[in-house]
Amino acid sequence: MRKLKSAISILLLACSMPVGAQQSYMIADNVAVFYPKNFDAGQHLPSPIFVRELVPQGNLKAGWRLQPAYSQEGGHSIVTFNVGDDVDLYGTGEVLGDLRRNGDHNIYWNRDNGAYYHNNGKQLYQTHPWVLGVRKNGSAFGIIADNTWKSTLQTGAEIKFDSEGPAFRTVVIERNSAAEVLQELARLSGTYDLPPLWALGYQQCRFSYHPDSKVREIADRMRAERIPCDVIWMDIDYMDGFRIFTFRPDEFPKPKALNDYLHAKNFKSVYMIDPGAKADSSYFVDRQGTAGDYWVKTADGKTFEGNVWPGKSHFPDFTRPEVRSWWAGLYKDFMAQGVDGVWNDMNEPAVFGGPDLSMPEDNMHGGGEGLAPGTHLRYHNQYGFNMVKASREGILRANPDKRPFLLSRSNFLGGQRYAATWTGDNASSFDHMVHSIPMTLNMGLTGQVMNGPDIGGFLGNCTSELMAHWMSIGVYFPFVRNHSCSGTVDQEPWAFGSQVENVCRTAINRRYRLLPYIYTLFREAAETGMPVMRPAFMADDRDAALRAEQQVFMLGNDLLIIPRWAKTAALPKGDWDVMQLEKADDGYQAYVALRPGAVVPMANLYQNTVEYRTDSLTLMVNPDARGMAEGCLYEDAGNGYGYRQGDYAQYRLKASVADGRLMLSMEKAAGKRAAAPKTLRVGLVADGKVTYSPWTKAGTVTMRAVKDKHPSIDRRQLKWSNLDLTKQPTTLQVTGN
Ligand code: GLC
Repeated sequence: MRKLKSAISILLLACSMPVGAQQSYMIADNVAVFYPKNFDAGQHLPSPIFVRELVPQGNLKAGWRLQPAYSQEGGHSIVTFNVGDDVDLYGTGEVLGDLRRNGDHNIYWNRDNGAYYHNNGKQLYQTHPWVLGVRKNGSAFGIIADNTWKSTLQTGAEIKFDSEGPAFRTVVIERNSAAEVLQELARLSGTYDLPPLWALGYQQCRFSYHPDSKVREIADRMRAERIPCDVIWMDIDYMDGFRIFTFRPDEFPKPKALNDYLHAKNFKSVYMIDPGAKADSSYFVDRQGTAGDYWVKTADGKTFEGNVWPGKSHFPDFTRPEVRSWWAGLYKDFMAQGVDGVWNDMNEPAVFGGPDLSMPEDNMHGGGEGLAPGTHLRYHNQYGFNMVKASREGILRANPDKRPFLLSRSNFLGGQRYAATWTGDNASSFDHMVHSIPMTLNMGLTGQVMNGPDIGGFLGNCTSELMAHWMSIGVYFPFVRNHSCSGTVDQEPWAFGSQVENVCRTAINRRYRLLPYIYTLFREAAETGMPVMRPAFMADDRDAALRAEQQVFMLGNDLLIIPRWAKTAALPKGDWDVMQLEKADDGYQAYVALRPGAVVPMANLYQNTVEYRTDSLTLMVNPDARGMAEGCLYEDAGNGYGYRQGDYAQYRLKASVADGRLMLSMEKAAGKRAAAPKTLRVGLVADGKVTYSPWTKAGTVTMRAVKDKHPSIDRRQLKWSNLDLTKQPTTLQVTGN
């Protein structure tokens, strides 16, 4: 008996004993990959995460710090990393919770999760097996679990990935800062491509605007009320019986005419396409899919049927290249109706009444191009990823000269290469507004820079107070869309009366005025992977007080956004100066503070990005203690791919204060696009006030007093010359009396 007991305990020990990685290599400078002993490439590769398969560059560096411990427990594959207590953890993808991820968990099984109710929002629509760790001294690491199978992540002194699939490899990035780790993640897994400029404007949505006259009415009202807006969204009710790639004949009889109408008023249109195709042999999508045998199968090889909006539906098996190609082809005629952008929703995939609101784990997918056939347990988490890969391909095929805009509810780590995202079905609550900040920040710290919540909240009724507060911060998120569920109160900016409408208009005006800066940030994100919206700690990696700050956030490096309700926020050190942009304060607008040492370009006010110009710019300047400030401006055609051939201009903006003079130069730094002449003015930011120089023409004027902060340029006279930007560098001078 005793023998048996000890045999059992030895067996148990063996079962849960950590197993070291069998092989480990460097794959880039300070980036290592670890393979478990029993690694079965056929169960994991090709990986959706990486732009290209990892190539060993040599043996693991001697003294490498972070190493995984592999084990098997109860049929699960487990990897732990001992990172210690002294590290702040971020990223981990989409989850409701605090910015600092220590002591929390994620459930990686993509799920339709209205109001984030199920599992307290720890199981949402997307999976990103990724942790960013920042040490006290600012140095940082990143850990990728290259695993699509159903799994969980625990974050703490020990980071633990626990998967229901076979053992998987892990990648560890070591760098000097969080920013450098994110840039390496981008090198490995790609970036969010430069979007069309219109996708950065304000977007109005609801479930759903119908019939088409309602869409026109919303568009007309935006213009009549002078609320800048670029996009009107079409949710499922435009479809014929919720059949994807169709328009309902009674309410949307002439989609092309509707889109022409929108275009004539400088709007773009985005239409929803879900994955489920109505099971209906008289419907062309279902007929084609059935003829090609393109649907996901049950364990016993039958076509899987599940209920979604249209009723019984079939689901394309996007693991198969021929299915992706067919799906991509469906966009041609659809986009030809003048559709500008696409919204892929319900692609976890959501199945009403299904297990975990999806399809059974033993459903079967066919694979291809090196991907083995496999169960839904393996492929569920990348269903949305493979869908948007196909959709993007289709949108590009339909309009090869335009930059695609695609929004997806579900995705996987690396999926920023194909689609933008939003945080799914939040609720109209202050709590969800407040949490939209850490949620969006962590997505940015996971490689997905184009992200944001439904402004005003999706489920439940928004109130005037909530709308005023939410719009006042929402305009500084990368993706700015107001959306709400059917059956809830109207949520357009005017829906709550003139006071809230004015608040919304002011906030949206600010968004449009900041577009030169925001577009420049998206260019940076496309090139380097740096998030557009950044946590405050990125202002100063070594300031421990900022590590958990999640009320205030940064837009790029230079603007700090401080919500009016942020009472106990930790702010970065230094003279971040609030730019007072309006004469009167409405009590809702976020404070926008400019980093000491920054120059931020702002445009004049336009109602949409078709009218938008950068020939006349206000350069907001906050000289640092040395009297210096710098910034950048990127511009191009706003759409298309000319910029890849050099049809863009990038300017370096430099200001310096010395001997009572502020010198500002705007110098072309890169690009073949001719430097267009610009009219400029300086907005000197100090002590919460902005003092503007007159618009530049040769001559001399007197600038209003700028208080104590920069006494050397108090009561200045402005002089400027040589403002023709075709002559480089252009210099704007602010000189003393
Ligand atoms: C899902 C989406 C939501 C959309 C609705 C109807 O709940 O998340 O945004 O409005 O479906 O299509």
